[in-house]
Amino acid sequence: MKKKVFIANWKMNMLRRDAFAFMASLRKGERVDFRIAAPYTCLLDLAESGDGVIIGAQNMSEYSHGAYTGEISCQMIKDAGAKFVLLGHSERRNIMGESNEQIHAKVERAISEAMPCVVCVGERLEDREKGREEEVIQGQLQSALDPSVFTKEQLKDVMVAYEPVWAIGTGKNATLKEIDHMHTFIQETLQEMFGLEDDERVSVLYGGSVKLENIKEICSLKTVDGALVGGASLDVNQVNEMIGKLENLE
Ligand code: PGA
Repeated sequence: MKKKVFIANWKMNMLRRDAFAFMASLRKGERVDFRIAAPYTCLLDLAESGDGVIIGAQNMSEYSHGAYTGEISCQMIKDAGAKFVLLGHSERRNIMGESNEQIHAKVERAISEAMPCVVCVGERLEDREKGREEEVIQGQLQSALDPSVFTKEQLKDVMVAYEPVWAIGTGKNATLKEIDHMHTFIQETLQEMFGLEDDERVSVLYGGSVKLENIKEICSLKTVDGALVGGASLDVNQVNEMIGKLENLE
């Protein structure tokens, strides 16, 4: 079985000393593709800690370099040891006001600079209540991964994370049926956009209140290639236990 992916999304948490303490107690296991999406300020230390965990950033600029005060470029995160980047997280979209166009530009920047990326998509509660969830997800995928701009070969370093906004940090879970349905829909949409063969399938992770109590059942779904975990990823003991659950999946 393909290794399940576990990405710890630390968001705006963890000082360097917390990151060191986390790493000292981490038991990452052999059968899980464990990664940390860390704050910029921890990237270099984590990348240099040398224990083989794949470290990534949570965002980057769409511009290559220049007069963009406060921004961090793709080259900069690469220089600090990042091996992947999250793009279009719903907190970037909904709190920081990132548009579909901007996220597309960031994906284009990542692909052109050979930086693997995790493109996050997710509908808001009001979209789901109006039955518009598929339309929203399709629009986000079409825009971020515009098939008139990218080739299917360029997708090999791309993962998608499905994170319904109403399930992020709220303790509310999408049901297994809802997750399975949307993951299938995402695969079908990507298939329609790029005509992917089976071995070109893009990994689709699930995120939104994933925790010790539900990670096993969610990641047991065939359509779920792994989890993007926020709140529950800050506690190393919980992370060790969650990894243990993924290690023992049939
Ligand atoms: P959560 O966050 O696990 O705290 O819901 C997930 C995410 O936003 O990536």
